[in-house]
Formats: sequence, C-alpha cells, structure tokens
Amino acid sequence: MSTASAAGAPAADGELLPITVKADSYVNKVQMMTNQQAIELTRKYLMPTYAQLPVAFVRGEGAWLWDADGKQYLDFVGGIAVIGVGHCHRRVAEAICRQARTLMHTSNLYHIPPAAQLARRLCELSFADRAFFANSGAEANEAAIKLARKWALCNNKPGRDVVTAYQSFHGRTLATVTATGQEKYHKNFAPLPPGFKYAPFNDIQALAQVIDDNTCAVMLEPIQAEGGINVPDDDYLPQVRQLCDERGVLLILDEVQTGLGRCGKWFAYQHWGITPDIMTLAKSLGGGFPIGACLATEQVANCFQPGDHASTFGGNHLACAAALATLEVLQDEGLVDNAARMGALIKALFAERMEDGLAIKQIRGHGLLLAVQFADDVPAKQVEAACLQEGLVVNAMGDDRLRLAPPLVIGEEECCRAVDIICQAVIAVTG
Ligand SMILES: Cc1ncc(COP(=O)(O)O)c(C=O)c1O
Repeated sequence: MSTASAAGAPAADGELLPITVKADSYVNKVQMMTNQQAIELTRKYLMPTYAQLPVAFVRGEGAWLWDADGKQYLDFVGGIAVIGVGHCHRRVAEAICRQARTLMHTSNLYHIPPAAQLARRLCELSFADRAFFANSGAEANEAAIKLARKWALCNNKPGRDVVTAYQSFHGRTLATVTATGQEKYHKNFAPLPPGFKYAPFNDIQALAQVIDDNTCAVMLEPIQAEGGINVPDDDYLPQVRQLCDERGVLLILDEVQTGLGRCGKWFAYQHWGITPDIMTLAKSLGGGFPIGACLATEQVANCFQPGDHASTFGGNHLACAAALATLEVLQDEGLVDNAARMGALIKALFAERMEDGLAIKQIRGHGLLLAVQFADDVPAKQVEAACLQEGLVVNAMGDDRLRLAPPLVIGEEECCRAVDIICQAVIAVTG
C-alpha cells in the first residue's frame, strides 16, 4: 500500500513531525478538492441548513484565507466573530498539538487541570468567581438558564421565567431558540418550551412591565449581534442592572459574540460600568476550537450542585488548552486595544466616504463588531457577493447591512483595503 506524508503536525517541542497517511485516504482527497468539488459534495451529503456562498476555504493565516482553488481573501467575518487571534495562530496551534499528544479527554468525573486554569484566568479577567464549560454558545446559554432557575429555587423565589429581548439571538437548541426573541427562528419548531418572555431592546419601561413575580432572570446581549448590531443607549444597561436588583432577578449577559476583546474591551459590559450575575462566552474563546463558558458570581454559581448540570466534552483538556493559549495571545499581543483602535479607524474611513455621498446611512458598533447600514436601494447580498469576488469576505445581515467582525489582529492597511473594496462594491451594485 502506498503512503504519503502529506500532512504534518507540530510536536510538543515545536518540530514538525510527518504524519503518514495512505495516498488514497480521505485526508488526501480533502487536500486535493477544488471549490466546485467541495460545493457538489456538500450539496449531495450535508443537510441543507445553510445558504452557503460558492467558496470553500482551505487555509488561513492571520486575517487571510485561501480557497480550494488557491485564491486569497481578506477575512472580515472571522468565522462570525470566532477568529479573534487570527487564523491558525501559531501559539494556539502549538498548544492544541501539544495537548493532543498528551491527553485530549477524560471525563469530568476527574479533575481537569487545563479547565481549572482556564476558569481561574476567566475569573481574573471578569466579574466572575466560577465557570462551567460547554462546547458552544447555545450550550453555555442553556447552562445560564438552568443556573438562573436553580438560583431562584435555592432562594425560595417563585419565578422561573427568563425575559429576553426582541431581536436577540441566543442559540438554536430548543431552549435557546425560544430565548431568541425573533419569530423567524421559532416558526416550524413548535411546541417551544415555556418560560420565556420578551421585551423590546433598549426600552427600560417596557422591560419593567414584562418582569413580574414569575421572572427569575433577564438575559440580554450587551450589543445585539445577529439582530443587526444594535447598540443600546448609554443609560440602558445601567438601568437594567438597577431594575434587576430592585426586582430581585438575575442579569445574564450573553457575551458569546461581544466578549473577549471583540468590542474593544475584554467584555462588552465594561463599556457601561456594570457587571452581570451570569455571563456566557463561546465563539472566540478557543481561537477557532469549540468551547463555551458560563461564568457566574460565587453566590449564584454555588446553587449548582453535583448532578445539576454536565457535559461530556465540556471543559475537556484540548479545548481548554486552546482557550488558555487564546487568552494569552489576546493579552500579550494587545489585541483588545487593537480592536478598539481598528474599529475607530474603520468608522472614520467610512465617515469620510459618507461625506462624499456614498449610499451608506450609518456605521455602528463597538471595536471590531460593526454594522455598515446601507441606504434603502443598496442590496446587501449583492455587495457581499461583489466583495467576495474582489477577495474580501464580509457578511450580509438581512437586506440592508453588512456585519464586519474581522480577526482582532488586523492592521491599518487591511482596514483601508477592506473599506475601499466595500465602497467600490456599493458603487458597482448601485450603478
Ligand atoms: C449572542 C449569541 N449567543 C449565542 C449564540 C449561539 O452560539 P453557538 O452557535 O456557538 O451555539 C450566538 C451565535 O451566533 C450568538 O451570537
């Protein structure tokens, strides 16, 4: 049988060791696929849950991607706010490889040193005292919802309902999709679990009316991400915090998308000088490796007792090693501050173009979680396609805006280039 050492992996000491694979193995077949072949195979064998653009990325480095046909792209989506430290950051890749060669998984029946270290680090960085690890944002939110209900039970409070905001997004499991305040994600999946109520975002009076004796928690994204990058007024979140305290309910902040430097601070709540009782993280926590976290204050976290919640893979050695390296890179490379600086630069660059009469209404967001809101006659999907053609990956949200969530490692040159390509695309599609 013929063999080939097509792929390599860094050893614990950083050396590349050859991996021997059969020449006709699926590993090799994947490496030799074109865009078209990947598209055809996807269409035949994957469930059709995604409306995918006609490109298959196969390699990444920093803020750059390459597709299966060898074309290079500047990535201003970052796996939807996942790739904070840049694609395939060497220190994250090495931490994953080292841990993979040492120990990938044991049950949570036993202590997991990387999970303990990661929990400590996240607590040092945030308001929190304890962590629970999951594998995704939705799972982190499931943990948060269960924890809030258990807290209410432990404190003899009658409430079990969670109040969320219209236009929110909290995940796709049945509980988190119900928490998501958007009808379009609910339809077709009834019956939905009870125990969720909704209030308009950024409207403190409306929220005050929805919270009642049946409420145990309010759950919000500090900036609504999937809902359109909706930034609340300066006084909204402080008022929400006060309202939760007055009514004796918990404040859960879903920072799955906004957290870990994305918005120019370690956590978006720091923009408003408040702290939540529970916070969830995922997306960029593992530098591209799947991991989610539910963090809470001591008083709330201790309501969970053995047996209350669990996850086979949650907090495994490999994911936690990836996350520890990711946090170190964010810190050592000053990426949180870079996100704030580059976000401000992108806003300024667009502001200049808007003065020149370009059909953009507004650019909003914090740090590197931004929405480019177009004038009514600009079809966002067409702009997205035109940008892709020109080697820039951006994300059309709805009909009228783009989301920009590039890796936090981007520099000035990349910002200028991205803004140029977007502006040219707007001109091209509006004729
Ligand atoms: C704010 C927020 N919460 C939760 C989720 C769900 O995360 P996941 O897709 O990892 O389950 C997302 C995903 O986009 C999100 O943006």
